[in-house]
Amino acid sequence: MHAIHYTEFCKEEQFELTKTQKNYDSKTMGIKKIVVTGGAGQIAYNLLFRIASGEMLGKDQPIELRILEIPEMMQSLEGVVMELEDCAYPLLKGVQISSNPFELFEDIDLALLVGAWPRGPGMERKDLLAANAKIFIEQGKALNEKASSNALVFVVGNPCNTNALIALHHAPKMDPKQFFCMTKLDENRAKAMLAKKAGASVDEVTRMAIWGNHSTTQVPDYFHAQIRKKTVTEVISDRKWLEHEFIESVQKRGAVVIKARGKSSAASAANAALDSIRSIMEPTAEGDFFAMGVYSNGNPYQIQEDLMFSFPCRSKGKGKVEIVKGLEIDPFLRKMIMLSEKELIEERLSLV
Ligand code: NAD
Ligand code: LMR
Repeated sequence: MHAIHYTEFCKEEQFELTKTQKNYDSKTMGIKKIVVTGGAGQIAYNLLFRIASGEMLGKDQPIELRILEIPEMMQSLEGVVMELEDCAYPLLKGVQISSNPFELFEDIDLALLVGAWPRGPGMERKDLLAANAKIFIEQGKALNEKASSNALVFVVGNPCNTNALIALHHAPKMDPKQFFCMTKLDENRAKAMLAKKAGASVDEVTRMAIWGNHSTTQVPDYFHAQIRKKTVTEVISDRKWLEHEFIESVQKRGAVVIKARGKSSAASAANAALDSIRSIMEPTAEGDFFAMGVYSNGNPYQIQEDLMFSFPCRSKGKGKVEIVKGLEIDPFLRKMIMLSEKELIEERLSLV
């Protein structure tokens, strides 16, 4: 039951046909092997189908899904696999499920590490570290041993910054630049709130960075964000709203959703995960940037090294992500950024 289980959705000749019909270059010719962990969970249920439809890596990219779950959830995961099969997605060439990351991570190109326990009402995300850290130790080791040398790893499971740091520490063969953690949901929340306040459309809000931890200390940076290419403070004159209500609403949105739904955000989290991978894989539009948790070594903002820290980032495409340099940090923002840095240092200290 827990051994690797392979479902082939296409006959060999159909795959050959796909290969000859599409003019892939040698790099993209292969099927991309994508891991999603926590496959029977609520985020995965909102994520797997969208990945399989081509929303993440594009409508030309055939994929194979490798889905990890704990043994107790395998039966439920089998139901999800049946539904994937019933969608008859042309790009989905196969699915493997397992509870053993060392089996499942063999030669993979991309891992979305979602599987981890979510918080309930009244909890902070860092309260999950005790339960979740061991998951990322094991998966870090499995990535180190099995993943392809240029695999990318994207952590969603909370507390995602420190979980990503744990995985990275256990994968010494990999370059820390291959690791990311998700603050895109915070970026999207901030964009939606600014757009609503300004009477703008969400895609008119650009350069929306989040600094620090994906926690209540995170810093949504309205100083560098723009609405219709103008600074936010030019468009929204209500400074009090920006300094207090806006920042606090973004910081606490996760808890507010949990209070309302009784469960943590899932559809918006899955959506942000897809947005994040596209942000990493596709070149960033001129002048824009996005929020992403990346390894802090060598950062230009004097943030302590050896943290997974959210910075304003740009991508050159295909996973080549860089921290945006040269932004002037307002003292009001700097003070908050340092609090988030302190929290991440404390989370790291709690690991030893
Ligand atoms: P969920 O409880 O619905 O699903 C989690 C799944 O992970 C479960 O099915 C569980 O069996 C599985 N799991 C547990 N240990 C595992 C392991 N070792 N290997 C593989 N699978 C394992 O939770 P969810 O709502 O899908 O959320 C998943 C995680 O994502 C939580 O930690 C949540 O807090 C986090 N999250 C992060 C963000 C973000 O912005 N970074 C947003 C939303 C949720
Ligand atoms: C979120 O921001 O919605 C997630 O991190 C879930 C949570 O615990 O708030």
